[in-house]
Amino acid sequence: MTAMSSSCTRYVELSAEEFRLRLPEALTLYVSAMRYPEGTAEQRAPMWLTHALRDGWRCVAALNAEGVMLGLAYGYRGRAGQWWHEQVRRGLARQAGEQEVEGWLGDYFELTEIHVRPENQGNQIGEDLLRRLLDGVPNANVLLSTPEGPSRAWKLYRRIGFVDVLRHYHFAGDPRPFAILGRPLPLS
Ligand SMILES: CC(C)(COP(=O)(O)OP(=O)(O)OC[C@H]1O[C@@H](n2cnc3c(N)ncnc32)[C@H](O)[C@@H]1OP(=O)(O)O)[C@@H](O)C(=O)NCCC(=O)NCCS
Repeated sequence: MTAMSSSCTRYVELSAEEFRLRLPEALTLYVSAMRYPEGTAEQRAPMWLTHALRDGWRCVAALNAEGVMLGLAYGYRGRAGQWWHEQVRRGLARQAGEQEVEGWLGDYFELTEIHVRPENQGNQIGEDLLRRLLDGVPNANVLLSTPEGPSRAWKLYRRIGFVDVLRHYHFAGDPRPFAILGRPLPLS
């Protein structure tokens, strides 16, 4: 599936196989967008490939006219037993009742990654990726985690209507505080 945007950016849904073939390019983009140290890509590769096997996985890439990847977003159906799911459940259970926990975690799509090359940020590619990725997702909610603090990502998520699910949360093994944000699907 391919669609053109006004600025000649193409949005393409990648199959798991296409994602695997373009993994080095996707991880290079991710490391530069997140300003992570060298070596992060190698460490992440097996995890991203495992994600692509999960139920409900889908991925949308933004490509320029030459086919170079400018941005990438992917996610899948969140389920009990997954590391992220269990971490969020633990945090949410501390502050919310069972009904609220189930309301968020009972049926959701986890927006796992969304990144745009630094030189292409601020042109609404992130919003286009997000909207295309979530279009037609059958789950009741979408959830994501993002580091606390002002960022382009925060502006984007608020603009799309994401609300606080959990704030200043510490995932096991990561010293940074995170926010878990969510909203019902479909997007308006
Ligand atoms: C987060 C990220 C994916 C967003 O992608 P993006 O293409 O930059 O996002 P958008 O252009 O859609 O939105 C961001 C900017 O456009 C502005 N914008 C775009 N469309 C707009 C609209 N319709 N109305 C108002 N503002 C708009 C936003 O206010 C924001 O402006 P800024 O330049 O002041 O920050 C990208 O910035 C990125 O890769 N960041 C680093 C990696 C990262 O943080 N990933 C998410 C981890 S949780």
